[in-house]
Amino acid sequence: QSLTIGLIPADGIGREVIPAAREAILAVQSELPQVKFIDLLAGWETFTRTGTALPRETVQALKEDCDCALFGSVSSPSRKVAGYSSPIVALRKELDLYANIRPVSSVSADRTQPPAVDLIVVRENTECLYVKDEKLIHTENGKEARATRLITERASTRIGKIAFELAKARSRKLLTIIHKSNVLSVTDGLFRESVRAVPGLPGIDGRFDDVTIEEQLVDSAVYRLFREPQIFDVMVAPNLYGDIISDAAAALVGSLGVIPSINAGDNFVMGEPVHGSAPDIAGKGIANPVASIRSAALMLRHLGYVSAADKIDKAVDDTLAPAEILTADLGGKHSTTEVTDHIMGLIKKQ
Ligand code: NAI
Ligand code: MG
Repeated sequence: QSLTIGLIPADGIGREVIPAAREAILAVQSELPQVKFIDLLAGWETFTRTGTALPRETVQALKEDCDCALFGSVSSPSRKVAGYSSPIVALRKELDLYANIRPVSSVSADRTQPPAVDLIVVRENTECLYVKDEKLIHTENGKEARATRLITERASTRIGKIAFELAKARSRKLLTIIHKSNVLSVTDGLFRESVRAVPGLPGIDGRFDDVTIEEQLVDSAVYRLFREPQIFDVMVAPNLYGDIISDAAAALVGSLGVIPSINAGDNFVMGEPVHGSAPDIAGKGIANPVASIRSAALMLRHLGYVSAADKIDKAVDDTLAPAEILTADLGGKHSTTEVTDHIMGLIKKQ
């Protein structure tokens, strides 16, 4: 048995932090089947060299040879460039990665205290306003723009299932459905109803009976997230709200450089640090590798390699809590390599 992992560092600091994630996986090799890595191309730099941001060989290798993948970050141009489209968006579509899962947690210096923030945002990744069905028409009163918001029972149910699974695996077992069905009663109403219906679906057989379901309107959810983040455990949301809430939640724990994510589907999972390519610090060797290392752990956990994931996460927490070996984004003065080496040392000591 083996585990084949595609590595797509892509652009900027992706090339500095994905190697750290690779090292972390190798450090827990004893908990895993035989690991094999395949280096793959994508991103802006690949586009400027080859004319495509996502080469066909990359997609083919992911589909045919890989069990999972780690993606670094792309530098997307802010102006429209003919022929360019974001490879990460295309990959989510190609591999049907319909769930974006983003845990946000703080590490208390006093490890006997529970973390102030410890939540997971589960974002539906394929529909809502991001189906990008927009039209501009000219009326006698000037321009008018319209966008379609698509919510289906199928997509809402499958994201709901993932959210229930995650909630069930946690100690608080609390799931909060985020919506705005007081205003958008048809679309958000369908999302909310579909998620609520998950525990009663055929085949679930009471598995989610111990999960508590709550609801929060999206605007008050953001307010409460900032005032009392500890009230949330697992939050599930349609695409647009999920996008905003997951970035908002990231602001609660200090740096984008520590927040991991996975994009998951029924047949594939791709780990991805939440941050971008950070052109301001790229090439300086000071990027925080924690988001990528945690993304590797999250990916392994999703695949069922819980002991490997636990080892990595513990070493990261044991690095962040004493706050001695940190990169500049967390107020430290250590390099990417120094932080990575420190984490690897702690994994090996376990
Ligand atoms: P960014 O996340 O790249 O950087 C925002 C700020 O956070 C910068 O000051 C950066 O230095 C800092 N930062 C980010 N990650 C860090 C890390 N690991 N360690 C230390 N500091 C870190 O977002 P920005 O500047 O808005 O976008 C830069 C480029 O990245 C753009 O081309 C954008 O399109 C792309 N991007 C790509 C994403 C992806 O690949 N999924 C997500 C967000 C942006
Ligand atoms: Mg975002």
